[in-house]
Amino acid sequence: MKAPPRLQSLVDEGLIDTVVRQLMSGKEAMVYVVRCGDETRCAKIYKEATTRSFRQAVDYTENRKVKNTRLQRAMAKGTKFGRQATEAAWQSAEVDALYRLAAAGVRVPEPYNFCDGVLLMELVTDAEGDAAPRLNDVVFTPEDALRHHASLLVEVVRMLCAGVVHGDLSEFNVLLAADGPVIIDLPQAVDAAGNNHAKRMLLRDVANLKNFFGQFAPELLQTHYGDEMWALYESGELDPGTALTGRFAHATGPVDLGNVLREVDDARAEEAARLVRMAAR
Ligand SMILES: Nc1ncnc2c1ncn2[C@@H]1O[C@H](COP(=O)(O)OP(=O)(O)O)[C@@H](O)[C@H]1O
Ligand SMILES: [Mg+2]
Repeated sequence: MKAPPRLQSLVDEGLIDTVVRQLMSGKEAMVYVVRCGDETRCAKIYKEATTRSFRQAVDYTENRKVKNTRLQRAMAKGTKFGRQATEAAWQSAEVDALYRLAAAGVRVPEPYNFCDGVLLMELVTDAEGDAAPRLNDVVFTPEDALRHHASLLVEVVRMLCAGVVHGDLSEFNVLLAADGPVIIDLPQAVDAAGNNHAKRMLLRDVANLKNFFGQFAPELLQTHYGDEMWALYESGELDPGTALTGRFAHATGPVDLGNVLREVDDARAEEAARLVRMAAR
């Protein structure tokens, strides 16, 4: 097919030979299958902030490391320069997370290049070599559901040990490759240690996996892997080899009211951001 305008500069620079077809136009990006020499790869084009949903609004920008304070002020004020910087930070966050996670042994697509708002990466494929389906497109036996759920929990633990919470993990952002599940779509990944929303995001990620696979293996619905993981992480006892039980005893001591109220505020802010995102679609 004719290269869409946003891919033309990569064609001109020789990073892409031909554009094969469009794979998806998702919430925040358009994804194409491209040929580079003998290899078939995947090109993800980020939509501009104005057409993209608003999910960086509250949670995700918190504690993103921006060292230059002039830049920080510009980003906070939303000047043109600031908006461009925010945009660039958002887009490069996914490449950063991919490199960091691949180094930690997490199964993510291998990144090759990031150029003009386009991420060139490994095309995740099924046994036939076609673009792999999302979990959401597949029906599982109870055994396979348990197996994939368990292996994804290991990946989530590896990510957490590498200091990263995905933040949008669900059956829509995991592909089923020939060699097992592959986690994708990471521009909103947050720093596990520095972001106040990290715990809530981790719990949501793990709950999404539980609820999805729980459709096929209902015993999963009784598990509490997210709480267990976070408690071990916080106390410094989590490592990639930790055997999890899925059991978790919620503390029953005196209630820390300040903490409860902060959680309520956080949940409100997140709901407000969600409504803004829906309205922006
Ligand atoms: N590396 C990849 N290999 C194969 N398919 C991919 C790859 N990356 C993305 N896709 C496809 O494109 C879709 C959208 O990509 P994603 O990164 O989830 O962006 P969005 O923010 O639009 O959801 C995915 O659901 C998947 O079907
Ligand atoms: Mg996605």
